[in-house]
Amino acid sequence: MKNINQYISNHKERFLNELIELLKIPSISADSNYKPQILQTAEHVSNALAEAGCENIQILSTKGNPVVYADKMIDPNLPTVLVYGHYDVQPADPIELWDTPAFEPTIKKTEIHPEGAIFARGACDDKGQMFMHIKAIEFLIATNQLPCNVKFMIEGEEEIGSPSLAPFIKEHVELFKNDVILISDTGMISNQQPSITTGLRGLSYVEIEVTGPNRDLHSGFYGGAVANPINILSQMIAKLHDKNNHITIPGFYDDVYELSEEERTEMAKAPFEQKDYNKALNIEEEWGEKSFSTLERSTVRPTLDVNGIWGGYIGEGAKTVLPSKAFAKISMRLVPGQDPDKITQLFTDYFMSLAPKSVKVVVKPHHGGKAYRTPLDSTGYQAAYKAYAETFTNTPIPQPSGGSIPIVSLFSEVFKSHTILMGFGLNSDAIHSPNEHYGLFNFYKGIETIPYFYQYFTEIHQQNA
Ligand code: BES
Ligand code: MN
Ligand code: MN
Repeated sequence: MKNINQYISNHKERFLNELIELLKIPSISADSNYKPQILQTAEHVSNALAEAGCENIQILSTKGNPVVYADKMIDPNLPTVLVYGHYDVQPADPIELWDTPAFEPTIKKTEIHPEGAIFARGACDDKGQMFMHIKAIEFLIATNQLPCNVKFMIEGEEEIGSPSLAPFIKEHVELFKNDVILISDTGMISNQQPSITTGLRGLSYVEIEVTGPNRDLHSGFYGGAVANPINILSQMIAKLHDKNNHITIPGFYDDVYELSEEERTEMAKAPFEQKDYNKALNIEEEWGEKSFSTLERSTVRPTLDVNGIWGGYIGEGAKTVLPSKAFAKISMRLVPGQDPDKITQLFTDYFMSLAPKSVKVVVKPHHGGKAYRTPLDSTGYQAAYKAYAETFTNTPIPQPSGGSIPIVSLFSEVFKSHTILMGFGLNSDAIHSPNEHYGLFNFYKGIETIPYFYQYFTEIHQQNA
């Protein structure tokens, strides 16, 4: 790749300023009040793709937020890379915990990012990472080095489970047809030790409503004699794990892909210090499913977590009340083999069976998605490996992630191509949290590494053809 470092150093400041402009727009998909900003961001991204030299720019409408399309097709006989990313972001709440405002991007140095990091909602997830791809293409087109065809699919609903994207891609199979899908929306081990994400967990997400009496009651008159839905909900939730922290839902583990001893040994080689992990989170001790390591628990084992629980009186002071209703949001992270619809059904059946007659329980399914694995012998993985080997001192380690990008498993079904997860974020970048940030080192390293992926993917693809 001729002159990539020169190109980056010539345009460093402009790249960063352009990213800052993108980060200023609060494109929060969870809150419909931000619909104008969502549309503005789609527009902004499409302009950036046009300025980078892409063609056939389209802002395609879906049932929900629009998808930005762009391409640069140089030769139908060459392979096509589809770049996927998302321009929507999580809400900034709780905003009072941000040191600088979420939508006023600020550069600050940190211990892990001594060269500086950009603090803003979406800095790492995923505007900063998605924008690296636009700049990498700008470089390849400007220097006449684009070795293959490229298409972009930048969506605006990832953070709410991509509800409109599934039907959308099924209707646009030809437009997005590709030989490999490239995504930067995950992380790596550290700036010294790159890793390529080789797996994502699936997801089944449900919301629970427990109703006791038909109105809030005086807890003195009625407490002890009428079921309190919050007490009952807590008891039911407590029954979802046993003393070994296994999930108790009958059939939950039936289809779980169990790692071989060889795979477990391989995984255990990744650099990981339990002490540092606990220290970073300020916890005395880790927790989890018996007989599995922290790395296994957080990537290749399925989990069940309460994400939110509410009901009754939570205002100032003490109000004596026996509430009529209690609610919870529960997510289950799934691994290869598990089907989200089946798991949602198993959860629902078991959870309903735990309910005493004194309450009514409703389980409402939200979004879901299957887990994904990138084969290590695929052309795309090989190309990514060589790309990192080119730009980092250490060669990359394959590592499954515990997070989810639900649309990815559908990509492989619809397009019959593999997804390569070249993420440059760090676990400490606080995505979805206050003070989300993205290292400037990571931003520029991504722009430097991505062009090599195109080069090696095209080379290996042509050799195999
Ligand atoms: N980019 C993340 C997923 C991610 C981050 C995967 C880091 C691996 C490492 C994505 O935007 C995300 O937040 N996904 C959600 C699921 C979605 C349905 C809201 C998640 O994993 O919770
Ligand atoms: Mn993301
Ligand atoms: Mn996210």
